[in-house]
Amino acid sequence: MQHLLVICHPNRQSFTQTMAHAYAQELGALGHDVIIRDLYRARFDPLLGERELIGVKKPFVPSAVRREQRHVIEAGAIAFFYPLWWAYMPAMLKGYIDRVFSAGVAYDLKGEQMIPRLSGKKALIFTSSGADMSYLRRSKQWRAMRILEENHILSLCGIELLEHVHFGSITSDLSKKAVEKSLGIVRKAVQTHWGSVPAARG
Ligand SMILES: Cc1cc2nc3c(=O)[nH]c(=O)nc-3n(C[C@H](O)[C@H](O)[C@H](O)COP(=O)(O)O)c2cc1C
Repeated sequence: MQHLLVICHPNRQSFTQTMAHAYAQELGALGHDVIIRDLYRARFDPLLGERELIGVKKPFVPSAVRREQRHVIEAGAIAFFYPLWWAYMPAMLKGYIDRVFSAGVAYDLKGEQMIPRLSGKKALIFTSSGADMSYLRRSKQWRAMRILEENHILSLCGIELLEHVHFGSITSDLSKKAVEKSLGIVRKAVQTHWGSVPAARG
């Protein structure tokens, strides 16, 4: 099975990047194919252009977007890695979703109804926040995020979310021990979901 990792963080030393690379390493050790799309390093342009919205039946798709769509279509599983910025995904990732998960690729429109096109694919989400989990729950940000990201985006496209792993209280003074503990949780998620899945391309 091919695994697509979508990483959204400008800083290579960030917690987000560290998590993503631990995930990739663990998958690699199991023999899985891993494609990493690091949106900042790839200089992905998150701005959906005017021409992309013209002609729903035959939209113009720039080659950079088409390349990302091919990765999504070919993947059996997609893992997203990003920090919470203003209680949501960073604008870069939102732009990626807007452009890559487009009509005709991620779903079809039948009147007002969205018909999923990515059924059968699995996803995991890895996020972090400065605030702790109890604050996110109390403020209902966690619920809002789940409704918007998990239910709205993923399930409307037919993607099954296997797990959303969130790390709260991720601040710049995080101890090495705390980072290692978090990476252990990331690696465990790989083992849980992919440890017994055949590694060969399916
Ligand atoms: C622009 C911006 C907005 C942020 N908004 C939030 C927020 O709404 N809630 C929160 O708990 N943390 C917020 N944070 C903190 C980040 O979530 C936190 O620093 C990050 O998860 C740490 O992981 P990293 O090393 O990968 O950046 C924000 C940080 C930035 C830069």
